[in-house]
Order: sequence, then structure tokens, then C-alpha cells
Amino acid sequence: MTDIFTPWRLGRLEIPNRVVRSATWEGMAEPDGTPTQETALLTAGLAEGGVGLIITGFAYVSPHGKALMGQTGAYIDAMVGPLTRISDAVHKSGGLVSIQLVHAGGQTKAAWIGRQPLGPSAMRNPALDQDVEGLSQGQIEDIVEDFALAAARSKAAGFDAVQLHGAHGYLLSQFLSPFTNRREDEYGGDAEGRSRLTWQVYRAVRDAVGPGFPVFIKLNSTDGIEGGLTLEDALICARGLDQAGIDAIEVSGGVPYAGKKSPSRLVKEPAQEGYFLENAKVVKAAVKCPIIVVGGWRSRQRIEEALDQVDAVSICRPLVRQPDLVNQWKAGSREPAQCVSCGGCFATARNGHLACKVLQDKEA
Ligand SMILES: Cc1cc2nc3c(=O)[nH]c(=O)nc-3n(C[C@H](O)[C@H](O)[C@H](O)COP(=O)(O)O)c2cc1C
Repeated sequence: MTDIFTPWRLGRLEIPNRVVRSATWEGMAEPDGTPTQETALLTAGLAEGGVGLIITGFAYVSPHGKALMGQTGAYIDAMVGPLTRISDAVHKSGGLVSIQLVHAGGQTKAAWIGRQPLGPSAMRNPALDQDVEGLSQGQIEDIVEDFALAAARSKAAGFDAVQLHGAHGYLLSQFLSPFTNRREDEYGGDAEGRSRLTWQVYRAVRDAVGPGFPVFIKLNSTDGIEGGLTLEDALICARGLDQAGIDAIEVSGGVPYAGKKSPSRLVKEPAQEGYFLENAKVVKAAVKCPIIVVGGWRSRQRIEEALDQVDAVSICRPLVRQPDLVNQWKAGSREPAQCVSCGGCFATARNGHLACKVLQDKEA
């Protein structure tokens, strides 16, 4: 078994332990995407709690790529100053922080972005009951540039790394999936065509931040739906990214309309922890870069068993409830996380203040 407190590397970054905070939408930003002091404090709290690498909530790269209310933006130069508040606060607390960059594509509402959402192909988004318009080649090129510019801003704002969101049914994941990508041009068709946009975004981001800056991706390994992305397809995308020099892949899965196979699943017993580990092992065998795996980690025992097969694990919901979970384990505790995976924290983010709903209800 590998001890959680064994350092590892993400590109040039030395990370002191194997627990990463997986990206978690905070709902705390101003309506124009400006991150608030509250976002900075929440993120710094995770550094104080001992998390090795913190990934922020997803930040949108263009106004049309906004997915949810209170989401942080990285779409204009004016955000560099406010974004610096987050990186500064984390660094003062001795931590490392990556931004997560996203374009929502067709997984958003016209009412939130002021126009009909844009995705790989014209269709109705089943999760949001929203019509989606197909992107033109010119619009795709603009989005590639939007990612590159947002990455450059993130680097200027002092983040230690940039993570691309290639999971959970957002734009890159929509392109990867044959369920949402029905294009007949070079961006559609076989797994290689469907991976093309993700590869182009990675290369543009790499050019924008330079060769030494850590860039990684959260990638769906399966959509968990009939006619969606398969592990075989995901491997083709992962291999291409690896060959192009990506610094790590965080393996996830699921889309919001996948029911019980959605990204944030229920975990009632240790055997259900790490529900993407089997997929992550297959990705690990296919690439050279480090592999992080997210999804249902609750106990130190299960995490340490997994660390024999992957490089790190990432955690979202348990750290909403216990931001100091890692420090508790460091102090010798073997207690599992208290999180019950109810997903109530999603509703709190919708109300503008990410928190554990179970604790909130107890205190009320
Ligand atoms: C409140 C909330 C916000 C989330 N925000 C994001 C996000 O911004 N980006 C992302 O990639 N995943 C997001 N997720 C998914 C988680 O990062 C993670 O993949 C999933 O919850 C499974 O991990 P867990 O069992 O440790 O919670 C979010 C999940 C929740 C519950």
C-alpha cells in the first residue's frame, strides 16, 4: 500500500500528498463571474486543511460558456486581478492551486447566457430541456482561442496549473460523445474526430502557457448512457493528449442525464468507493502521464489500496463537509469521511454559498 503522504509530481510541481481536491463549483462569484473574497477564503481553507493540490470550481472561458449561476469567470483580462485573490490566499496558506477551465457548450440555459446555447450538433439537451444550436467551424476556432486566452490569464493570476474540463457533459465532453456529437466534418465521426477539439484546445493552451507550466485534464472515461462515450473511445483521446505532452489525466465519468451513473454517485459502503478506479487502471496502462481518479473516495484504507494502481485520488463532496480531512488523517486518524454523498452541497452552491447541507440542517 502507498501511504497518502508520499509526494508526487504533476509536471514541475511537487505535490506533498496524494489527495487532490476535485473541482467544485462554489456558486460564490458575482453575476459577472468576478470571484469574491468568500471564494478565496473557502479555497485557502482547503490548503490549511492539508489538501495536496486544490482544483477550483469550474471557471468559464467565454460568456456563452457559462454553465451555472455564481460561477467564476476567466473570460476577460479584467478577471486577472480578482482571480489573483484565490491564488494568493492559497499560497499564503502553503497550498497549491489549479484553476479548472470550462465551456458549457449545450449544457446551459439561454436565460443564463443571453443566447441559444451552442454545442457540437443541433439537438435538445435532455438534462435542461433546452434547444442547442450546432457550432460552425469558425465558432469552434473562437472557442479554442477562448481556452488559450483564459489559460494565459490564469497563469498571470498566479495559479500553479490549469485543468481543462473534459468531463460531465460540458463542451469538450459533448464533442467526445457520439450521443451529442453528430457532426459529419473533421470534429465528428470516429473517436479520433470526436477527440479533435480536445486535442486542439490542449495544444492551444500549451502554446499559451509555455512548455514548463502544468496543464492537465478531467476526462470522462464513459458517459454511462446508451450511445454515449465508451472507455475504448476515451482511451484514444487520452493517448493523443499523452503523446502531445499533457501533465496528468483525472479520470471521471458520467453526464447529468445518466441517472445512477452520473458523476456524483451515492456511496453507502466501502466497496462502492472509487467507482471509476477500474476505468482509471485501463487509462493508466495506456499512457505515460500520472493518473488521478475521482469518484466516491471516503476512507484512507480504500485510497491507499488504490494508490498502488494510480498516482493520486481526488475528492469533492467529503471536503465540503470536512475541509481538514487530510490533516485529520495526517494526525493519525483512520476514520472515514463523514460525507453521506447526498449531493445536498449542490443545492447550497445554487444558493450562492457552497456548504454541507447535512451540517447546515443540523445547525438550523
Ligand atoms: C457541489 C458540487 C460541485 C461540483 N462542481 C464541479 C466542477 O466545478 N467541476 C467538475 O469537474 N466537477 C464538479 N463536480 C463533480 C465533482 O468534482 C466530482 O467529480 C464528483 O462529485 C465525484 O466525487 P466525490 O464523490 O468525491 O464527490 C461537482 C460536484 C458537486 C457535488
